[in-house]
Amino acid sequence: MQPLQVMQLTCEYRSNPVGIDVIQPRLSWKLVSERRNVKQNAYQIQVAAAPDLFDNQLIWDTGKVISDQSVHVVYEGAALESRTRYVYRIRVWSEHGQHSDWSETAYWETSLLTPSEWTADWITANIPRDPEQAEPIDMFRAAFQIDGQVSRAVIYATSLGLYELSLNGNRVGDALFTPGWTSYTSRLQYQTYPVTELLKDGGNALGMMVADGWYKGNLGWQKQRNCYGSERAVLLQLHITYEDGSEQIIKTGDNWKASEGPIRMSELYHGETYDARLEQNGWDTWDYDDSGWSGTNVREHSKEILIAQENNPARIVERLQPIELIRTPAGETVLDMGQNMVGWMHISVEGEAGRTITIQHAEVLDKEGNFYTGNLRSAKQTNVYICKGEGVETYEPRFTFQGFRYVKLEGYPGEPKLEQFTGCVITTDLETTGHFECSHPLINQLQHNIEWGQIGNFLDVPTDCPQRDERLGWTGDAQVFIRTAAFNRNVAPFFTKWVRDLKADQFRDGGVPHVIPDVLPQDTHSSSAWGDAAVICPWTVYLSYGDKRLLAEQYDSMKSWVDYIHSQGDNTYLWNSGFHFGDWLGLDAKENSYKGATPSDLIASAFYAYSTSLLAQTARVLGKSSDAATYESLYSKIKEQFRNEFVSPAGRLCAATQTAHVLALMFDLVEGEQKKRIVRTLVELIEENSFHLTTGFVGTPYLCHVLSDNGQHDIALKLVLQESYPSWLYPVTQGATTMWEHWDGVKADGSFWSDNMNSFNHYAYGAIGDWLYQVVAGLDTDHQSTGYKHIKIRPRVGQGFEYAKASLESMYGMIRSGWERTEHGEWIVSITIPANTTAEVHLQDARLETLLESGRSIFEAEGIYTRQQSADGVTITLGSGSYQFTANQ
Ligand code: BGC
Repeated sequence: MQPLQVMQLTCEYRSNPVGIDVIQPRLSWKLVSERRNVKQNAYQIQVAAAPDLFDNQLIWDTGKVISDQSVHVVYEGAALESRTRYVYRIRVWSEHGQHSDWSETAYWETSLLTPSEWTADWITANIPRDPEQAEPIDMFRAAFQIDGQVSRAVIYATSLGLYELSLNGNRVGDALFTPGWTSYTSRLQYQTYPVTELLKDGGNALGMMVADGWYKGNLGWQKQRNCYGSERAVLLQLHITYEDGSEQIIKTGDNWKASEGPIRMSELYHGETYDARLEQNGWDTWDYDDSGWSGTNVREHSKEILIAQENNPARIVERLQPIELIRTPAGETVLDMGQNMVGWMHISVEGEAGRTITIQHAEVLDKEGNFYTGNLRSAKQTNVYICKGEGVETYEPRFTFQGFRYVKLEGYPGEPKLEQFTGCVITTDLETTGHFECSHPLINQLQHNIEWGQIGNFLDVPTDCPQRDERLGWTGDAQVFIRTAAFNRNVAPFFTKWVRDLKADQFRDGGVPHVIPDVLPQDTHSSSAWGDAAVICPWTVYLSYGDKRLLAEQYDSMKSWVDYIHSQGDNTYLWNSGFHFGDWLGLDAKENSYKGATPSDLIASAFYAYSTSLLAQTARVLGKSSDAATYESLYSKIKEQFRNEFVSPAGRLCAATQTAHVLALMFDLVEGEQKKRIVRTLVELIEENSFHLTTGFVGTPYLCHVLSDNGQHDIALKLVLQESYPSWLYPVTQGATTMWEHWDGVKADGSFWSDNMNSFNHYAYGAIGDWLYQVVAGLDTDHQSTGYKHIKIRPRVGQGFEYAKASLESMYGMIRSGWERTEHGEWIVSITIPANTTAEVHLQDARLETLLESGRSIFEAEGIYTRQQSADGVTITLGSGSYQFTANQ
């Protein structure tokens, strides 16, 4: 291996992206070296139109730039052109004077950079429709001729509704639920598909299926339809470049034909009905006779709102086989997938023409073991397949998804065999970055459940749940979970897209809708801890990926949220008015209420302080010093008012709830003796409850953090390892495979908490994940040097664990932090720090004199800058490399 290498080049977080419309994209790379303490001292980037032009025709050459920046370097070459591939390569010099070879060549390809390049027309099917009903989906087709040698062909496509594209009978790409869900009135994504290989000399045909989806299908529990419009439409351009340099554009227009087909109904919540007898074989091929098809109409719709795909696409990422065929006491035929999953079933069947097979999905069986759909509320989650009677037929839906572990079959001919069924797991296909594992099997299952909660609910937007008639981008859920999510997967593009939608849907006065994209009828908005997503989410992307550009872009949105709060109520420094969800689902709620006992104004004022402090830090990061000073001063005034209003001088909090104490501590609202008393009281409240939590959505994510940060790590461990209700592990002991919305979704006697609010795939309480990574395994980023440029490693040994380890593929490369206790009472801490980063490592209770690194005294170890003994252990700063520390406990 070369001593120093540059690898994994990315442009806007993606490897070789095709179809981006960022005018000045950012380039990132990773340094790889076997040596310790490797830092980049300089880099050089070259960009050209093709690899053979690097030597004589550069579009951008930075020359040797003295800088340690290897993440988010902004392209500053000549203005980019549309529909163009740019290749780039990078080399670096290290501080030791080593230099790398040029990296392998990577590329990015631009899409349509200006709206005027959209010359195609939006078209709709000329078929009479009732917008109030779920109706058959539309199929569009156009035949065209190719005459000459094609050098390259690329499609740009989007729709009002969800589309699937085909060319000459082949599905184009593997992205699902395109064009994705954005704030459709102001932002609509299009996708870019290179299709050179799919074209044929002579006659060709394009096909497009379009369903209602988020655009006009049923959304929300109030039976809304047509949230963005009442008519489906498509827009497409196929750019063909011939070897001789000439160009041809095939585009949607009123020469296209339209028809209905086998998909008789398709709804995100309710499922799909597919009548295979109505298939039109060859409908998307050249020689299909479309004389019986309807025409299409050109319609007006903005092209100014078109944006290239920002997020990774949704895809089938895994296929599961059912583990069991169950005959329930009620006589139902039910498949058990063994995992609560999101996606759909692929079935294979042999039945006579007209045989109707109903495939219904549910998350749990009831106490008696029967199929249970009560918690789905109005969502039908039912796919219907009608056989054509031509031997073995296979089916899976296209524009709907289900949240389920159990599948009820009706009408299936004969005895179903497990191998005839496959569960297709669908999610936004994000890079897996994190791994957490420990010696406690139930905690490992909890981590599994957190990950599956994320997989199931990150379907283009961060949803609350994937099964009932919601599946909406609830802001509160997203903000509590985002840090955990950013460990498990690379969520930067996912949240970049979503916070832009938040900004797009934000009210003029800075208020934030409860769900993003906003589809709720506006009776209320701007609840504390929900609307704060406007600030917390961009900040967390900055923390986790060092993404300053997103902070800058969102700054106005963040600021207007804080200014909105500032203008509420009758006290400038408290938030004591308006509607709030409160400590949602807290166990100290009054009977028949979802709102925990912590007063809303306390929660709202605490979050007011928190968002203000993050905004002040953001202003500092962006060099807006006058704003920073304004919000720093506002923050201290809110803090002061918070104490006046809610805390007695002796440190008694006005609300004797766990959540009130957690917030005061988490957001640094109290100090000195007051703080000590609040910590003590929190511990008492937990002890009085026999080491059980009572917190809801607001308090739960922070509970263990404040305990561990305030000298009560053992209490945090007791809570996390608690197996009886209410606790994180109670659902695990009940066989949960995802996170539950309620601590007692299924009670010990097998009965359910309730029908109307009982999701078994709700990631919010999965926010404990970031404590597992950050505290138990001890892996975190420094908040001043974000994106893991400077890493904080502080593993915590504690009762109940023999070992714990975490890894994170950061923007700089792989970080590992793990510890184990040996039989001889030693404590071994193993860490890996990627090149071009540094770390501060705290080794609890270690002594410098006896501390070893890879078997040698810590004083002899290579790569270490400083070592410091303090009362509670040793703190070391070090450079990149793998280290193994051994301490006597
Ligand atoms: C959702 C939550 C959401 C809440 C608002 C629920 O129906 O499922 O997760 O945050 O409403 O309080």
